[in-house]
Amino acid sequence: MDTLSVTPTRIDSDDTYYQCWFPVCLASEVGADTLAGVDMLGTRVIVYRDASGKAVVQSAWCPHLGADLSKGTRVEGQVRCPYHHWRFDSAGACSHIPTGDRIPAAARIFTYPSAEAWGLIWLFNGTTAAFDVPRIPGAVEAELACEAHLRGIRTSPGEVALSNGADFQHLRTLHGLQTTSPEEIAVRDHEIEFRVQGVGYTQHGVISGVSTFAQHLTPGGSELFMLFCGAPIDRGHRRMFFTVGVPRTGDAPADRLALDNLRGFVERLISEDEPVLESMRFRRGTLVASDRHLASYFRYVSDFPRAVPPGV
Ligand code: FES
Ligand SMILES: [Fe+2]
Repeated sequence: MDTLSVTPTRIDSDDTYYQCWFPVCLASEVGADTLAGVDMLGTRVIVYRDASGKAVVQSAWCPHLGADLSKGTRVEGQVRCPYHHWRFDSAGACSHIPTGDRIPAAARIFTYPSAEAWGLIWLFNGTTAAFDVPRIPGAVEAELACEAHLRGIRTSPGEVALSNGADFQHLRTLHGLQTTSPEEIAVRDHEIEFRVQGVGYTQHGVISGVSTFAQHLTPGGSELFMLFCGAPIDRGHRRMFFTVGVPRTGDAPADRLALDNLRGFVERLISEDEPVLESMRFRRGTLVASDRHLASYFRYVSDFPRAVPPGV
């Protein structure tokens, strides 16, 4: 009888994710009465707005028996579990148990550091935010006409897709843009920043954490702002968003046209990247001198802190 040699499958037991800001959902999806559930970071979170309108992001799992709180109801500003109607406030404390039992100290849900920026709601993967929510270089949100979009769910690893931001060669080869590479890029603990002064344009880019690339482009003197970001749903999937922005001029139809044009440009870039990113078997292979910024990016990513999401 033939014997079959089986190589054991490697079980990936690492349930950590980068300790940075991740986009949860479009801000426009969360109204005053919304109670939404979002799968991300290998777990599930709930998103809603408190009485002041601030976005709250918390673990979706009820500490009683583990019911999904996104299936519950908003009652007097609190979240009521669908199962036995325990209620939780925006700080995560259990405030009410209908039976009148004493509320156990452990009856809490984790509340993530959260923020709203660039048309998106964000959470920080940690108990406190170690740095600011991602920025678009040169942009003040209140001065922009800006619009966020869900691009969809993709399978390529986020750190590979994000490497686009430090891959200056591919702008010419894949996208056909007449751009140049920066001499230097500034690699800091939580972000990478660079500036390019090209012929007839400037490019100012920032990679934030391991989730977001944003840039300010000035082709022909126009001002274009864009942000690309994604959040892991689990090990094999990530949800991808992008935001486009132009300076608000007071002429709404002109701003609309500028935004539509920019969205078309950004969607072209993404649709050129996606077939490559979604089909590649990524490896940090043979790099050449022109890849030096990419090499710095890969070092930055491998040194970046990781953490098990506190609310799992
Ligand atoms: S499972 Fe939530 S109150 Fe019982
Ligand atoms: Fe690209």
